[in-house]
Amino acid sequence: MARKDPLRTKLCKSLGIEYPIVAFTHCKDVAAAVINAGAFAVLGQTQSTPDQIAANIRWLRERIGDKPFGVDLVFPASVPASATIEELLAGIPAEQKAFADDIARRYGIPEPKRRPDTWDLGWIEKETPRKQLEVVLDERVPVVASGLGNPDFFVKAAHERGMQVWGLVGKQRQAKRELEAGVDVIVAQGMDAAGHTGNVGTFSIVPQVRAIAGDRPVIAAGGVTTGRHLAGAIALGAAGVWTGTLWLASRESDVDMRMKERLIEATSDDTSFSACVSGFTMRTLNSKWHEEWARSDAPKPAPAPYQLMLFGKMKQSAFDWGIKEFMTEAAGQGVGFVNEMKPARKIVSDMVDEAYAVFDELYGSDDA
Ligand SMILES: Cc1cc2nc3c(=O)[nH]c(=O)nc-3n(C[C@H](O)[C@H](O)[C@H](O)COP(=O)(O)O)c2cc1C
Repeated sequence: MARKDPLRTKLCKSLGIEYPIVAFTHCKDVAAAVINAGAFAVLGQTQSTPDQIAANIRWLRERIGDKPFGVDLVFPASVPASATIEELLAGIPAEQKAFADDIARRYGIPEPKRRPDTWDLGWIEKETPRKQLEVVLDERVPVVASGLGNPDFFVKAAHERGMQVWGLVGKQRQAKRELEAGVDVIVAQGMDAAGHTGNVGTFSIVPQVRAIAGDRPVIAAGGVTTGRHLAGAIALGAAGVWTGTLWLASRESDVDMRMKERLIEATSDDTSFSACVSGFTMRTLNSKWHEEWARSDAPKPAPAPYQLMLFGKMKQSAFDWGIKEFMTEAAGQGVGFVNEMKPARKIVSDMVDEAYAVFDELYGSDDA
């Protein structure tokens, strides 16, 4: 009896893609390479202005033709409705500001060459992502993903334009809410993941979401960096994988070369799960900033978005002045599998080849 292709999932069918691999990336070149290799990419645009988003979408379409792609934005509920950067800077709690200033003084960290503005920081108030969303809807991007917050308020508008809405969740009850709101695909993200994440592991969250998703595809995220992970995710009930850390040190990635070197050297226990970067729990590569906020005499990180404003300034200084020990980036535990700088196309084909090899190892190959 002919065996079905285990990688030909319903996600492949619904998007018209060859492989059920989704790259989350901020880098247009990575996105274009991944899509042209037969997989799917979602471009992170939380730090782009509406004009930049429109230009990036045009740029990508020129390189991928009519193949589908996505854009990711975030809609946190617990930030001010609308505020200028000056108003938000004035609202940073005094205790955390004093601690951050003291870190800068003790380590001799100069002011950044340019102070990060609202667009650099991305989601520090609610109006910014709403303006970004308008462009994504106008452009009828095939997939709009919501990385934080419930996308219920734009599901109808997206569907009217023929777009899919994907929601990233870290808890089963968030998935339930988003499924009720009509979201097309749930990305179930475990705490191995880079970036904002809850405290439930990938092995728990993926089958928990699969159990309530009905016919709607579930995509597994958090620690997926090899073909064995891809095969495992499918066995857990996922129709594909959503990956972030995997692309940071790829050949095409525009991540700073000093950071790429650190990512390649890092092992799976070189990341921290902490609120010290953004005020929400987040997994990032360890740095002196993390060590300082983990000290027993450190204050609790400020709530979002104020902690991100403190961190954003320090990060800008670290990169402006080459202060390596304070450089960090969102990175997941899968960083331990990122050991060389490969072209994105090769990352896709290696992952696919390894997944098939795993299925063959489990079930024997057709020609065996
Ligand atoms: C550098 C970096 C930045 C990220 N920024 C965002 C973001 O802006 N929005 C979002 O939804 N997810 C963001 N993420 C998380 C990814 O979308 C993805 O869920 C995560 O990387 C998956 O786990 P993995 O890194 O183990 O593959 C980011 C990830 C990385 C590596």
